[in-house]
Amino acid sequence: MAGRERYSRQTDKEENAMYGWIDREASRQHREEIRNEVAANRLAKVARANRVRAGATPPGKKDQQAILISSLDPGDEARLLGMYSRLSLRSIYRRFHTPFPRVPEWLVVSFAKADQNHMVGVVAIAGEEIVGHAMYARSEDGDEAEFAIVVEDRWQSKGVGKLLLSELAREAMRQGVETFTGIVLTENRPAFGLIDAVFAGARRSLRDGSYDVCAPLQSLKSLTILKPLASIRP
Ligand SMILES: CC(C)(COP(=O)(O)OP(=O)(O)OC[C@H]1O[C@@H](n2cnc3c(N)ncnc32)[C@H](O)[C@@H]1OP(=O)(O)O)[C@@H](O)C(=O)NCCC(=O)NCCS
Repeated sequence: MAGRERYSRQTDKEENAMYGWIDREASRQHREEIRNEVAANRLAKVARANRVRAGATPPGKKDQQAILISSLDPGDEARLLGMYSRLSLRSIYRRFHTPFPRVPEWLVVSFAKADQNHMVGVVAIAGEEIVGHAMYARSEDGDEAEFAIVVEDRWQSKGVGKLLLSELAREAMRQGVETFTGIVLTENRPAFGLIDAVFAGARRSLRDGSYDVCAPLQSLKSLTILKPLASIRP
């Protein structure tokens, strides 16, 4: 009996030691996981902030290239044609909802002729190239405007869309527009992400296989880095 008690006491002691070690190891690993997660979140946040402040780095280049956001002017026609001619079929389809093999030239020329009153265009410029274009067309009564946006493929997911759409919305507000409307294909997750990143109060409703989107401009979120259009044109 005494032997068994001693044996069981030893076992308890060993077990306690073992479980204590497991508990310590588990909580060490848990703490480490939390630390890694916090560090990863911090890095992602810093990367996002830099991306927005300093523009984006094109693939394969180490040095940062600033993105300039500017109103579209008639002299931009050739550069705008260049940007639309470089789009992938997927981006073309998501933008126009039509499987154009190439965006028709007459359509781009009509964008370039935007009068900056009923039809307003804003472009993102990297170096000499236009790499993104956002536009709106005003409704008859002027309170609403339908918007559309595209960013060249190699510049996507780098913050350019947010800059463009925010600036377009600001310009629309300056001109008395109250609401942006748009049509977005149901599979177009980047577009919904963009709209939610720019507007706090965007709503959507399903119609004929696409979403009608409605974004009150008052719900525009603030981005800190935008400067007045005129002063940032190269
Ligand atoms: C939709 C589009 C304009 C977004 O522009 P972008 O420059 O890529 O977007 P941004 O980098 O500014 O990202 C804005 C938000 O979109 C979302 N997003 C961007 N890329 C994404 C991706 N690949 N997958 C899912 N969400 C994505 C994110 O929510 C992001 O916000 P976050 O950076 O705070 O996380 C661009 O993808 C595009 O030109 N697509 C083809 C044309 C099109 O779909 N136009 C919209 C219909 S008119």
